[in-house]
Amino acid sequence: MFRSLLLFIFLALIVTNSKAIMVQKTYIVHMDRTKIRASIHSQDITKPWFESVLDFISESSTQEQQEEILPPQLLYAYETNMFGFAACLSPKQLESLSLVDGFLSAMPDELLTLHTTHTPNFLGLKSGIGLWSAQNLASDVIIGIIDSGIWPEHISFKDSGLSSVPSHWKGICEEGTKFSASNCNKKLIGARTYLKGYEKSVAKINLTTDYRSPRDSIGHGTHTASTAAGSMVKNASFYGLASGSAIGMRQTSRIAAYKACWPGGCVTSDILAAMDQAVSDGVDVLSLSLGGFPKPYYIDAIAIASFGAAKNGVFVSCSAGNYGPHPSTVGNSAPWIMTVAASYTDRTFPTKVRLGGGEVFRGSSLYQGRKTGQLPLAYAKSAGANKEAQYCTEHSLDQSLVKGKIVACEKGLNSRTEKGMVVKKAGGAGMILLNSDSQGDELLADSHILPATSLGFSESNIVRNYIQTSRATPTASISFLGTKYGEPAPAVAAFSSRGPNYFGLDVIKPDVTAPGVNILAAWPAKTSPSLLKNDQRSVAFNIVSGTSMSCPHVSGVAALIKSVHRDWSPAAIKSALMTTAYTLNNKGDPVADTGSNNSTFATPFAFGSGHVNPESASDPGLVYDISTKDYLNYLCSLNYTDSEIALVSRKTFVCPKNSALQVGDLNYPSFSVLFDRLVQNYSVTYKRVVTNVGKSESANYYVVSVEQPSGVSVNVEPRKLKFEKIGQKLRYSVTFSSIGNRLRVAGSNSFGSLSWVSGEYYKVRSPIAVTWQ
Ligand SMILES: *[C@@H]1O[C@H](CO)[C@@H](O)[C@H](O)[C@H]1NC(C)=O
Ligand SMILES: *[C@@H]1O[C@H](CO)[C@@H](O)[C@H](O)[C@H]1NC(C)=O
Ligand SMILES: *[C@@H]1O[C@H](CO)[C@@H](O)[C@H](O)[C@H]1NC(C)=O
Ligand SMILES: *[C@@H]1O[C@H](CO)[C@@H](O)[C@H](O)[C@H]1NC(C)=O
Ligand SMILES: *[C@@H]1O[C@H](CO)[C@@H](O)[C@H](O)[C@H]1NC(C)=O
Ligand SMILES: *[C@@H]1O[C@H](CO)[C@@H](O)[C@H](O)[C@H]1NC(C)=O
Repeated sequence: MFRSLLLFIFLALIVTNSKAIMVQKTYIVHMDRTKIRASIHSQDITKPWFESVLDFISESSTQEQQEEILPPQLLYAYETNMFGFAACLSPKQLESLSLVDGFLSAMPDELLTLHTTHTPNFLGLKSGIGLWSAQNLASDVIIGIIDSGIWPEHISFKDSGLSSVPSHWKGICEEGTKFSASNCNKKLIGARTYLKGYEKSVAKINLTTDYRSPRDSIGHGTHTASTAAGSMVKNASFYGLASGSAIGMRQTSRIAAYKACWPGGCVTSDILAAMDQAVSDGVDVLSLSLGGFPKPYYIDAIAIASFGAAKNGVFVSCSAGNYGPHPSTVGNSAPWIMTVAASYTDRTFPTKVRLGGGEVFRGSSLYQGRKTGQLPLAYAKSAGANKEAQYCTEHSLDQSLVKGKIVACEKGLNSRTEKGMVVKKAGGAGMILLNSDSQGDELLADSHILPATSLGFSESNIVRNYIQTSRATPTASISFLGTKYGEPAPAVAAFSSRGPNYFGLDVIKPDVTAPGVNILAAWPAKTSPSLLKNDQRSVAFNIVSGTSMSCPHVSGVAALIKSVHRDWSPAAIKSALMTTAYTLNNKGDPVADTGSNNSTFATPFAFGSGHVNPESASDPGLVYDISTKDYLNYLCSLNYTDSEIALVSRKTFVCPKNSALQVGDLNYPSFSVLFDRLVQNYSVTYKRVVTNVGKSESANYYVVSVEQPSGVSVNVEPRKLKFEKIGQKLRYSVTFSSIGNRLRVAGSNSFGSLSWVSGEYYKVRSPIAVTWQ
């Protein structure tokens, strides 16, 4: 009996061990449609192709296997933007799959993160004129938002005054937890949920805190959707701050919410399923305020799916990421994606901090209670013995040291509002958030639950010094000054991810910037504005920051452009937004960069072509159009292999032989020039084609105007373009030469621009970024 028990344990061990080895993982599998039919061993031709493929690998991998293993499990089939499927596979099953003819690649599923109203006026949109005139407001453009879902009852999604649902719409309103088909209307025309990938690789949906339905528990999706296309709400505010009308970029646009993001993040297999469905449902614009770190396009799921979407005429706008101000952090950077940076508007929520020594600083906060008294100031060791006391993490503060005091906290390790909660729980009376040097003068306004403010880097340094060196007890007070307008703006946010574009140096990224700091938009009734569990407040509008907030501004503006130019390709819309972007602030000075040491001016690696300007973008004069084939030729010029290109193109694409494909020849509306610093007088010539879309017959004559980057001479040929008719295309070439033989430091840059100017009518501007490698 002992023996058999031992044997049993022994066997059990083997089985568990082999199970552990055989554990399944989720993969996104790319297949070549043209090769697949012939190769799968299916008798049953009525069976969907992906089932036949899975049957095949199920059989071939179990044949040699003694133990029982789980069959491959299909999560999604992708047929619109890419061709393939997501499935849970064991290593053996993956191996069998790779033998199927038509197999291209399998990428492990990946977890991406969300890149967490005054803005329409700041963008120059005014009721009754131009893009917001009645005539233009009548059309029907659909914006698909891939995000954390939506709070459908929100006043921003009321459909009063809207015409019936556009006839080309094929989507549905999926039912689920606390969500029924009647939650959709003529504004929110569709809603769907994607959780299979998330539940496989992250966690089961927790029904205490979330919904197995399109209903938003995080707030992010509701906020981005209302920014892109919310209805007009008069007198919207956050506790009286930023009050005024809240309105999306295009209030007659329709919203389709695709929930693919959950409290732990967004899994690529779910995002791809959402994008695939959105395109076949009939969206015109896709908005993705999420992402990961930069990667080559052929292994970047969002880049691949966006290529398919663009091929289907869908404009894709993505957030650049919040990893700035460090260089080469920009993500979502494929040339067919609109990559959006974030900047400040002229609206601020100032606070006043007065130190015991008499210095007065300006900070920023959404807290709007009364001024604190002049209270003792605690920081780091004087706030707790714990090493993390300087970050004000949970349990790090000593009640006896901080009670009744203002606590200074470093950013990092936990969320900014959570630090406030920790201070409050320990009996603190207020909080000052200190910036590190890379955060520069960033002044994010947060919805704190106690009197609290942020401060810029140099002010933070003075506070740190004061606390450590003051002979008397250091003290501070904080007062709250409400909402102010008229600050120099825009200015690029320090957190906004920067170029150069690590895996595509020859294209400037990000493409443009848009408002992304302290943005007021819709918020779910059941989600606290600080996102803290024990914050009981419920608000209709919340103020948050991130490239997540700037991306839907551009999605909404793209919908505006699409509504007046139904026949424009996504690349043409993108060109219009880029070549009309502005680079001077509201005081006439170059746009500043908050993240760079000492307000130096923002470069194209911070804000691309500049700040979007919707009215000008609707009438840009000329556009740089790009076809699907141009993009694939570009991938050829990057020396991608045939199989890498096939992942993007979905089918075999043969690169043109013997033709001198140059990376710089992609017909992009900006110029990134790479010089070999070791070669004297290096020079490159790029070609471009511009299409005349000018409204004015009299503005058909363009002259080139160049701002030469320092150390570079720029020669354009021809220097004048005369168009005979609308739709006509003309070519030009531009030669960039590194002047002189001075050797440069590797990675050094200089910047300039090239503009085609037609009298007073049009200025079609492209930034130039030169890098010496
Ligand atoms: C679900 O969330 C609640 C509230 O946060 C928590 O108490 C509970 O443990 C969670 N359940 C699971 C299974 O994680
Ligand atoms: C606007 O909202 C504020 C705060 O919610 C309220 O006190 C005020 O009466 C409202 N004003 C109008 C004109 O509705
Ligand atoms: C700012 O300048 C200081 C001193 O020159 C340097 O130590 C720091 O790394 C710089 N920070 C950034 C973000 O460039
Ligand atoms: C910015 O420049 C001023 C002097 O012009 C200097 O005092 C300050 O330390 C600098 N700040 C940073 C963040 O480098
Ligand atoms: C591609 O390969 C060619 C030939 O080897 C080379 O000249 C070129 O620089 C490469 N391009 C890139 C972008 O690596
Ligand atoms: C580079 O250009 C400079 C100025 O045009 C010229 O004097 C020099 O001879 C050139 N050098 C080479 C190696 O071509």
